[in-house]
Amino acid sequence: MTAVLARGLRKTYGTKTALDGLDLDVGEGTVCGLLGPNGAGKTTAVRILTTLLRPSGGRAEVAGHDVVRRPREVRRNIGLVGQHTAVDELLTGRQNLELFGRLHHLGAAAARARAGELLERFGLRHDGPAKDYSGGMRRRLDLAASLILAPPVLFLDEPTTGLDPRSRTEIWRAVRELVAGGTTVLLTTQYLEEADRLADRVAVVDAGRVVAEGTPDELKSRLGGDRLDVVIRDPERLAEAAGIAARAAGGPVESDPDARRVSAPVADRVKALTEVPAALAAAGIEAEDITVRRPTLDEVFLTLTATETPAHAGEERA
Ligand SMILES: Nc1ncnc2c1ncn2[C@@H]1O[C@H](COP(=O)(O)OP(=O)(O)OP(=O)(O)O)[C@@H](O)[C@H]1O
Ligand SMILES: [Mg+2]
Repeated sequence: MTAVLARGLRKTYGTKTALDGLDLDVGEGTVCGLLGPNGAGKTTAVRILTTLLRPSGGRAEVAGHDVVRRPREVRRNIGLVGQHTAVDELLTGRQNLELFGRLHHLGAAAARARAGELLERFGLRHDGPAKDYSGGMRRRLDLAASLILAPPVLFLDEPTTGLDPRSRTEIWRAVRELVAGGTTVLLTTQYLEEADRLADRVAVVDAGRVVAEGTPDELKSRLGGDRLDVVIRDPERLAEAAGIAARAAGGPVESDPDARRVSAPVADRVKALTEVPAALAAAGIEAEDITVRRPTLDEVFLTLTATETPAHAGEERA
């Protein structure tokens, strides 16, 4: 069953188009990662799907309910962790969770019990006010608050932005546990690694539409198979090394002078790994490292969203 569905979703603010025909299908019990640069429309999509914003066109359903015609049914089935934290700074974690419970019409005893469960589960037994929490604890408190009613569909808007690697890993673990328990998760992120680690499927959003969709692996294979990386010792000889790599490459060679590295897509990894080292040695170019690897999701993302010309980007800044 589809937990989140969007068809031709549009949103305009005056003359500005934030969503331009967005389509989405998120299967029940899966994690979908919405990946996109700043201003791509991720938050707008989440706000429409969580009934906080009306679309200008198209339609969307969450847990089988139309977001415009059945907002109350949708709200009963969702949890939301917004891009900005929503906890009350002066209250403790426990007080915050009890308050959320009461706001969701739980009785005092039920709210207290649920708060206790969630504090335990997210390791939030700290007693002080939320303003003394670390960024990671605060984000876990946000996540706990969104789970007061154990919603089947959870929306997370950049859940780990600004967190250190340890806190990020904690959030990932919490999300994985929820999904193992059957929750459907739609999360937005700017971190490719997050999408790679957490999402079953990724939708890459650019300028208000989905420009690519698939499993992280599918998206990587679209870039055309393996990549050859060669790091050389002498930066002066980078251009020569690029020339050698080009002979084995099945696409454009990229040079990174700071890393003393050339990188290129290769169709035949064995051929690349035998011919390139031999040619480098014959030319007297000393290699520090030669590897063949899958493309990263970063490379997929940059390739898919590199639509703006520098001139256009300059205009936008002006
Ligand atoms: N209330 C608003 N009024 C006018 N324009 C808006 C409004 N909200 C968003 N926009 C514009 O719509 C576009 C999409 O914004 P949105 O916040 O959905 O992007 P995003 O992908 O979440 O970006 P970020 O990664 O920065 O969070 C942007 O160009 C933004 O400037
Ligand atoms: Mg956003």
